[in-house]
Amino acid sequence: MATSTPSLEAIHLTKTYGSFTALSDLTLKIEGAKCVGFLGPNGAGKTTTLKLFSDMIYPTSGKAIINGLNVHEHKREALQSCGVLVETPEIYPALTPHEALSLIAEVRGIPAAQRDSVIQHALGWVEMSGWADKRTGEFSKGMKQRVNLAAVLLSDPDIVILDEPTTGLDPRGMAEVRDVVRALKRRGKLVFMSSHILSEVTDVCDEVAMIDHGKLLVYDTLEKVMARSNESRTVVEVGLSRPADPASLSGRVGKIVGVEVVEAIDRFNLRLILTPGVEVQERVLTELTGAGLGVISFRPSSSALEATYLDMIKDSR
Ligand SMILES: Nc1ncnc2c1ncn2[C@@H]1O[C@H](COP(=O)(O)OP(=O)(O)OP(=O)(O)O)[C@@H](O)[C@H]1O
Ligand SMILES: [Mg+2]
Repeated sequence: MATSTPSLEAIHLTKTYGSFTALSDLTLKIEGAKCVGFLGPNGAGKTTTLKLFSDMIYPTSGKAIINGLNVHEHKREALQSCGVLVETPEIYPALTPHEALSLIAEVRGIPAAQRDSVIQHALGWVEMSGWADKRTGEFSKGMKQRVNLAAVLLSDPDIVILDEPTTGLDPRGMAEVRDVVRALKRRGKLVFMSSHILSEVTDVCDEVAMIDHGKLLVYDTLEKVMARSNESRTVVEVGLSRPADPASLSGRVGKIVGVEVVEAIDRFNLRLILTPGVEVQERVLTELTGAGLGVISFRPSSSALEATYLDMIKDSR
């Protein structure tokens, strides 16, 4: 059931276990084709939130809503448009991806006549088509996780919920999962993804929600969350489409008001230290693009997210 604007909404969502509050009064609305990173220390309440959205556990009070439907009251309809990867069981090693996905497709009620094409489509998304008939027991962890992602995508959901999808993978496995997340965004999906890896969040997420002790600390765009850092400077990485001479670049870029330091990482990448503030970032970006240097990316560095994260977690302790 595709809707034009995918949305996830929590309204005063609360989960307690006896006297312990795992999630406290979460109110949050996420809407549109984007990736939202869900950050917080161990035990913060991330998995609890994601399980409430997939009706794996039930709220003590409040509501989890998917595309306007209360998940607990309309589980089947709500979850039709939502794929969830939380606490995935191991794939039975003797099965091939095609066999494993066939079983899942059957359980999900995908009609037999459609199963093959749905499976091929999902394996194509995660770039595992060439491995459809090999035993998963031989696969790397990254490949197995891509098969798990394919399982989530079988019903072509417009919302995808992932709990630490890259944990336990090596750098290549992580990069592969990140590529899948980017592909999902390009196809108009809403991805809500918990993670402990801040560089991954800066890399693929448009927005960030931070949580600690079951309480939401902030939900905003990546840029605004990073700009909250108490650090008295902002580090931005700039990518160029054409190689440039570092010395002349430093001269030109260094003249822009708000740029304190220019460091040429190589002929295609610059690191800038800016005076703090989103408005400074906005102005520097405008001037950089106007300067005809072939700027193709402008990204506050992940250390800015780390600074904000550590500030926020410290304040909530
Ligand atoms: N069934 C349960 N009974 C009692 N307490 C629970 C239960 N499930 C979770 N908790 C507690 O709720 C808190 C939140 O757990 P949750 O799994 O949501 O954290 P998390 O943010 O996902 O952490 P991590 O980063 O370690 O995965 C933890 O303190 C956890 O011990
Ligand atoms: Mg967790």
